[in-house]
Formats: sequence, C-alpha cells, structure tokens
Amino acid sequence: MSAPRENWKSKLGFVLAASGSAIGLGNIVFFSSNAYQYGGGAFYLPYFVALFVIGMPVMMVEFGLGSLTQQSFPMALRRLAGKRGEFVGWFSIASALFITMYYIAILGWGVGMMIGAFGSLFEPGVSAPFAPFSEPTADASAMVYFFDLISTWNPLLYIVLLWMVNIYILRQGTHTIEKAVRVFVPVMWIFMILLVIRGLTLPGGFDGMMFLFTPALEGIAEPTVWKGAFSQMFFSLSLGLGTMTAYASYLPKDADQVNNSMLVSFLNCSFEFLAGVAIFSLLFAFALNPAGSTLSLSFFVIPQGINELSNTPWIVRLFGFGFYLLVVLAGITSSISLIESPASALMDKFKIRRSKALMYIAIPCILGSFLFALPQIIDSGLTGNGTLGLTLLDITDHWVFNYSLLTVGLLEVIMMGWVFGAERLRQSLNANAKLKLGRWFTLLIKFVIPSLLLLVIILSLIEEWPLYGSNYDMPGYSWLTVFIPIFWIVTTSVFAFYLSNRKPKTA
Ligand code: PHE
Repeated sequence: MSAPRENWKSKLGFVLAASGSAIGLGNIVFFSSNAYQYGGGAFYLPYFVALFVIGMPVMMVEFGLGSLTQQSFPMALRRLAGKRGEFVGWFSIASALFITMYYIAILGWGVGMMIGAFGSLFEPGVSAPFAPFSEPTADASAMVYFFDLISTWNPLLYIVLLWMVNIYILRQGTHTIEKAVRVFVPVMWIFMILLVIRGLTLPGGFDGMMFLFTPALEGIAEPTVWKGAFSQMFFSLSLGLGTMTAYASYLPKDADQVNNSMLVSFLNCSFEFLAGVAIFSLLFAFALNPAGSTLSLSFFVIPQGINELSNTPWIVRLFGFGFYLLVVLAGITSSISLIESPASALMDKFKIRRSKALMYIAIPCILGSFLFALPQIIDSGLTGNGTLGLTLLDITDHWVFNYSLLTVGLLEVIMMGWVFGAERLRQSLNANAKLKLGRWFTLLIKFVIPSLLLLVIILSLIEEWPLYGSNYDMPGYSWLTVFIPIFWIVTTSVFAFYLSNRKPKTA
C-alpha cells in the first residue's frame, strides 16, 4: 500500500500557493516590459483575449487534470490520454527545468540588487537619472552597477542560497509550502500596494498609468504582438509547465476547479495590473525610458526612479531594498512551484521519496543556474549582452518562453479535447462546479484554442529568421544562436521520449 497522497490543509492554502506561483517575475519584470515593447495600450486587446479565451480555460484543464486524477502532470495526462499524453507531460517538465534554471539565476541577480541597496547602488551620484526619455547609456549607473554585479562570482553564491531556500520550503511538500506562502504572499501584496500609492501620488505618475491603459488599436494585426500576449499569459498564469496540475493534485477530487481558476487568474491579473501601474507611474514621473531588453527595465531603469523618490538617502535605500525584496519573494513563491512540478512528477512515476526527487532535480539544475549566471565577459562594451551568462539566458529565454509553453498548451488541449474528449472534460469539471461551463467550453477546447495557438506558433516561427541573437556582438560565440534552439528542442524531446517510455513503478 502506498501512503495516502498529501493534501492542502485548507482551500486558502491552495489558493495562496497557486496565486503565489502565478505572481512572480512574470508580473513585475516581464509584464511591464512586454506591455511597453508591444505598445502599451495596444497590448490590451490581445492580453484580454489571451486571458479569457485561452488562459482561464487552460487553467481549468490543468487544475482539473490534477484533482480528477490525483496525479501530477505527466501521469495525469497518461491516465486520461494515454502514452502520447504522458510524452506531452514530460516535455513540459523538461521545459520547467530549463525555466527553473534561469528563473533562479535572475532571482540571484535580484538578491544582488537587494544587497546593493544597502551597498553602493544608491550612493549619491551612482544611480544618476538618464536624460529624460533617452535610452540607458553606459554612464547611467544602475546599469553599470548591474553589469559589475553580474561580472563577479557573487551571483553564484546567491543562487546556491536560493536553491537552499527553495528546497527548504519544499522539504515536506504542501505542509511546508503552505507555511511559506501564508507569510510571503500577503507581504507581496502589501509591498505592491505601497508602491502603487507612492507611484500614483508622484507628480506625473498618473500619466504613466494612462499610457499603459489607454487602449490603442495599432499593432493588432501583428502576429508578434499576439504571440507576446499569449506567451505572457501562459507564463504569468504558470501554465504549460505542469505546475498547476501538481498543485491541484493535492486537492480533493471534488474541488471546484472552475471557481479556483477564476479566482487564481483574477488574483494574478490584478497583481499584474498593480505592478504595471506602480512601474509606469514611476517611469513617467521621472521621464525614464523603459526601452531595452526585458531585464533592463527592472534592473537598470527602476533603480533610477527609486533614486529620485526622496532626498533622504535612507528612504531611497529602503524603497530600493523593498522593491528587490518584493521581486525575490514573488520569485520564490513561483520557483517552488516550478520545482514542485518535476519533483511530484518523479515521485508519482517512480514512487521515490520527496527528498530523493528534490536531489535529482537540484543537482543538475544548480549547475544549470550557474551556467546562466556565468560572469565571463564576452563583450566588454557593456552592451545588453555583456556577459556570457546573460547572453545564454536571453537566447534560451527567447525560445523556451515563447515556444515551449505555447506548444505544451497546444498539445495538452488537443489531448484533452480530442483524445479524452472535451465534452467529457466539461462534464467532469461541471460535476463539482457551482458555476457550470456551457457548451462554449467544449468548442473552445476542441477548436478555438488549438487553432489560435497553432496559428500564433506558425506565424511567429515564420518570422524567426535571422535567428534570435544573431545581431549580438559576440566574437567567437556566434554559434550559440544556432546551438541554443537546437539544444533546447533536442534535449526536451529526448527527455520526454525517454521518460514516457519508462515503465511506471507500481508501489
Ligand atoms: N507565473 C510565474 C511568474 O509570473 C512563473 C511561472 C511560470 C511559475 C510557470 C511556474 C510555472 O513569474
């Protein structure tokens, strides 16, 4: 007899954990920069379509998979859709591992900035503001601080620390996860609300919010904007990586997953909205230009804004520390779910102990995180691709972020819609739901979502040439632009093929 499956102590515990997973770097770092990159208000229509037409229904699928089967993603899909389903499951687990590696590397830099708030990051004259609305330059000092930071070995130390914290929180599964999220998640909300209040009360802050939220229609015909919105939504809602199924597998079979999905999506998108307001009000109040790479907004530009918040140095430091603490806490409640997804998958398939599963994951992944934080300089010009680790991260993120999640999303809805049966799924979800899903749900899962995802994937693949990163100035390393996408797709598929063909252990 195997031990009974562990369980969340309360619905609140689950909702905190799942919303903690959803709210993370995606909401703070990636959302604002994507929204800006894709045109502020022009991002909104695709964003809402992504939320209501794809995000929420896919979350219902992933939650439903977990509670109905009481299994994590690969085994749940195997049970409901056979071996091909399990392949999709492991494919997503491989992607989760890739993302975990660099997600924690970025968090490591966040820790570095947090420490820097009390070090030299906000020393007078160090984070000088940019000339209004110009792009960051080499003498804008938060940027110099950041590049100095990532060209040392310190982030490697922070990575080890973060991995230890993650494993510590995961050591007894739901029991310890619940304890952590009960503290971290409310703290995150309080910090974010404080930031919003400060941002909106700055002169000019309100205009920033208006820029972000005034709908604009240009860009709507561009496939890249749609791809941006879809990928952002998948990532932000923690979909396509097995995390939501893993968390939901610790709920009772009769959990109301329609309600849970609406609740978690609502919490996530509200937080994202608040983060957008906080960040854009700061940018507008101090005429800061958010252009540049995804990370530059949070790591170079925001510190400049924080520096302007007050003439009193300790207040500036406190805000700076608070902001990066927020990033790190939000990141940890997400990274634990990223690690729980493969851990629960290994435990379910091979009936191994949690500690063993965590070890199998942590050892290779710590090395992977190291690789993404490598301080070796390959371009001394301090352009956006100044270190090897950052370049690896940027290119890997481009492929995994944009394609893995959407591909898994596409394949899982095909499995559930066509192999298991969309109508059957709808009825299973409805059996426990207060708010019943209508026929439209079947149509969405069977036709609308797969066609939209397929269309966006194909259209964006067509636009992929020349390969991402080929314009980087990195003598001796230009082969990376070809190597990384091949490495990603081959390792992910081989991993999925191998694991889905291994016999599951029956305990
Ligand atoms: N949703 C998290 C964020 O916004 C990231 C994440 C994605 C976590 C997928 C788990 C699974 O940062």
